[in-house]
Amino acid sequence: MGNVQKTRWGILACGRIARKFADDLKHVAGAELVAVASRDLERAKSFAELFPARHVLGSYEELVQLDDVDVIYVASPHSHHFEHTMLCLDHDKAVLCEKAFAINSVQAGMMVDKAREKGVFLMEALWSRFLPHYIKVREMIDAGMLGEMKGILANFGFKPADPVPPRLFDPALGGGSLLDIGIYPVFLAQSILGVPENIIAQMDKSSTGVDEQCSIIFQYPNGITATLFSSLATNLETDADIFGRNGRIRLTNRFYEPSASIQYYPGIVSTRTEIPVEREAGWGYQHEARHVQECLSLGLKESPVWGLDKTLELMQTLDRIRAAMGLVYEVDKN
Ligand SMILES: NC(=O)c1ccc[n+]([C@@H]2O[C@H](COP(=O)([O-])OP(=O)(O)OC[C@H]3O[C@@H](n4cnc5c(N)ncnc54)[C@H](OP(=O)(O)O)[C@@H]3O)[C@@H](O)[C@H]2O)c1
Repeated sequence: MGNVQKTRWGILACGRIARKFADDLKHVAGAELVAVASRDLERAKSFAELFPARHVLGSYEELVQLDDVDVIYVASPHSHHFEHTMLCLDHDKAVLCEKAFAINSVQAGMMVDKAREKGVFLMEALWSRFLPHYIKVREMIDAGMLGEMKGILANFGFKPADPVPPRLFDPALGGGSLLDIGIYPVFLAQSILGVPENIIAQMDKSSTGVDEQCSIIFQYPNGITATLFSSLATNLETDADIFGRNGRIRLTNRFYEPSASIQYYPGIVSTRTEIPVEREAGWGYQHEARHVQECLSLGLKESPVWGLDKTLELMQTLDRIRAAMGLVYEVDKN
């Protein structure tokens, strides 16, 4: 893509992920953090002590009215992505919205429609799509290193430390393992094998009624399957095997983030080759941020890499998984 131009970022919601993202903007040439907004001015101020910005705001409404902000990173809980992204788009602000993009595909569709009607840039912050190791895996598959694809196994499990962040299990905040972490195995499988023909899913319900654990099988027409699992009850190896008739790629713990290594097991040989991956300082969010800047500098309204149709497909699959396992949020009833 073309030259990276100076981009003025605003951050909406000063929670945990917003800190990592703000930290990674330091690794993005041409990125300037100009505004941080919290529902509570004191929280915005303490955020700005770590990540200084010229506008430190006690409401999201003030953020979207600023003239000197090019793009807003929406980092609220997924229950609020719809409301906050719509607020930004209504004020013609480009948006990078955290995953899960919304609670369901109805909300996601309205967000996408609004961005397209208004001609404003919108992208889901599916950061794994932009990581060097994920791009390398796609190149290996495209080069035929696995041969005919046969399936994927992927897990994501962690036991949250006390105090457990309320949003993880609160249905009103879109709690549950699927939308929070299961989305990564689902993304991996769908981005490599495509949209599944059939989905089998079962949840292990928490006391709050959301999925503490989620087991999923994606079935494809030719007998291929993806077997996916997410857990907020147990620490698991968060790894993935992607395999075909001619070989297997193993993505080590944690497969969705830059710490993952790529191990390649060709054919029937059990010895493995470590595939080198470009590594750089930072949490890994700088890659998606750079991509957003490149899109904006080119005047694009959607990412050519992780476009809104891909986001909608992912949300629709998440809806299908929830339907299969019987997880309904209040907002689904509207
Ligand atoms: N890409 C990744 O690797 C990654 C990692 C973790 C999380 N995430 C995603 O990022 C989003 C935020 O996760 P997080 O871990 O940063 O959550 P968090 O620490 O709870 O922060 C969320 C922030 O949202 C704001 N907020 C607005 N309305 C809220 C409400 N009604 N209840 C609670 N908070 C509200 C709050 O900020 P103010 O009080 O400042 O307004 C809060 O600090 C989620 O959608 C999650 O899936 C992505």
